[in-house]
Amino acid sequence: MQFGSSPISVVASTFPVFQPASPQARAIHDLFIEVLVISGVIFAIVAGLIVIALVRGRKLAAQLPKQEFGSHKAEIAWMVGPVIVVLWIAAITAKLILTLNAFPKAHPDREMQADAQLLVTGHQWWWEVQYAESGVIAANEVHIPAGKKIRVLLRSDDVIHCFWVPRLARKMDCVPGRDNYIWLQASEPGVYQGRCAEYCGTQHAWMNFKVYVHTPADFDKWVAGHLVVPPPPAGGLAEAGKDLFLTATCVDCHTIQGTPAQAMIGPDLTHLAARHELGGGVIKNTPEDLKTWLRNPQALKPGCKMPNFKLDDQQLQQLVAYLETLR
Ligand code: CUA
Repeated sequence: MQFGSSPISVVASTFPVFQPASPQARAIHDLFIEVLVISGVIFAIVAGLIVIALVRGRKLAAQLPKQEFGSHKAEIAWMVGPVIVVLWIAAITAKLILTLNAFPKAHPDREMQADAQLLVTGHQWWWEVQYAESGVIAANEVHIPAGKKIRVLLRSDDVIHCFWVPRLARKMDCVPGRDNYIWLQASEPGVYQGRCAEYCGTQHAWMNFKVYVHTPADFDKWVAGHLVVPPPPAGGLAEAGKDLFLTATCVDCHTIQGTPAQAMIGPDLTHLAARHELGGGVIKNTPEDLKTWLRNPQALKPGCKMPNFKLDDQQLQQLVAYLETLR
């Protein structure tokens, strides 16, 4: 979509829902515009009739206007007209819902049921992303190939969250104990902002994620890269960092493939250094920022489940050196 500098263009470029980048988001956008136009026409008719009545009433001054009682024609018109409009809106809305809904198909495998390609689980306050086919696990980043319709299974580990990528798809709640489905699709490669759209506790605002849309070839490369277990560090700060990671309480919450760390309370860190952001978007993922995060996560994201371990400078350096090897 092209944007000039008219007020409409400014609004359109400010709100991502006006820049649909998938057939699903386009359909939602078109329905919104259609209902807006219908409402606009009704508003213009009603407001116009009021203005006409005002002007005519003033001309007639003190005279009583012509009185009419019991016009069948008028009564039928103002009942049938709105019914047609309401049925019209209901029909285009129903069509959209049927297009958008990712109905689950029966599947014998309960874990990756209903042939979902992607399982996204909301946690306070981060997103776990699991790929059915490859088994890759990521956090706060969804990588998909362009042009492909992906069936996503949405779950929650604690409270109700809501998965929303305005430019790509409808909103869908992640409800504890319930399986919800959504189609995720993007026409063009790019990066699309996603957010949790349901208040879920103190750090709801920092439960962001991004959808990275690749060309199919680049997506395959990304998957292949994430299937490789990073080699253990050979000596130096990084090895000291690994020892620290495995002896400190980090292992009680996190997984790093190829090590004894296999807990699933917090995000899987196997490919941490390949991610773009930390803490659901609260800080970039550079070595400097990672150190800031580890020094005191509570300072950046108060109330998050990662405590302040009061690590000293040397420990921080070792940990960062190790985590940076996890590409
Ligand atoms: Cu999760 Cu708001």
